[in-house]
Amino acid sequence: MKHKAIFLASAAAAALATMAALGQQPAAEAGVKGVTFLGEPVSADDIANGQRLYAETCASCHGINLDGQPNWKRRLDNGRMPAPPHDETGHTWHHADADLFTVTKLGVSAVVADYESDMPAFEGVLTDEEIQAVLAFIKSRWPEKQRTIQTRITTNREGKP
Ligand code: HEC
Repeated sequence: MKHKAIFLASAAAAALATMAALGQQPAAEAGVKGVTFLGEPVSADDIANGQRLYAETCASCHGINLDGQPNWKRRLDNGRMPAPPHDETGHTWHHADADLFTVTKLGVSAVVADYESDMPAFEGVLTDEEIQAVLAFIKSRWPEKQRTIQTRITTNREGKP
C-alpha cells in the first residue's frame, strides 16, 4: 500500500513536470469529465496523448497555449488566413466533431471546396486515433459553456436526437 502511494505521488510529480516544461496549466482533471468525441467518452490517457501530439504537430501554428497566430482575424498578404486559436476565443468550437476531424485529416478544402489554406492535411502523418486524441485534448481545454454548445452542434450534425 505504501509503495503504491509513493508510486502514484512520483507519477503525479512527473506529469506536473512535463506540463511545466510545456509551459501549460495542468490539463484540468475536470476537462476529462464531460469530454466526448462523436458521442464516445474520452479517457484521461487519450487527452494526455493528444496534448503531447498537439505540442509536436499543431502548436507551431496554433500556439502551445491554443491562442493562435497574432492578428489571426486579419487575412495575410497571400490572401490566406492565419491559424486561429483553438481555445474559446476562436471558432473551432463552432464546428461539429466530424468536421474538425475532416479538416485535420484532409485539410480545409475537404469541407469548403476549392478553399486555399495554409492548414496542412495530416493524413499519413497522424493516425485516425491520434487525430481524435488531439481534438479531444483541444476540447478538454474549452470551458463548460463552449463544450456544451459544441456537443449540441455535433449531435445536430450527426442527425441524432
Ligand atoms: C503550418 C501551420 C499549421 C499547423 C502545423 C496546423 N494548422 Fe490548423 N490551421 C492552420 C491555418 C492557417 C488555419 C486556418 C485555415 C483557414 O481558414 O484558411 C487552420 C485551421 C484549423 C482548423 C479549423 C478551425 C476553424 O475554426 O475553422 C482546425 C480544426 C485545425 N486547424 C486543426 C489543427 C490541428 C489539430 C493541428 C495539429 C494536428 C493543426 N491544425 C496544425 C495552420 C496550421
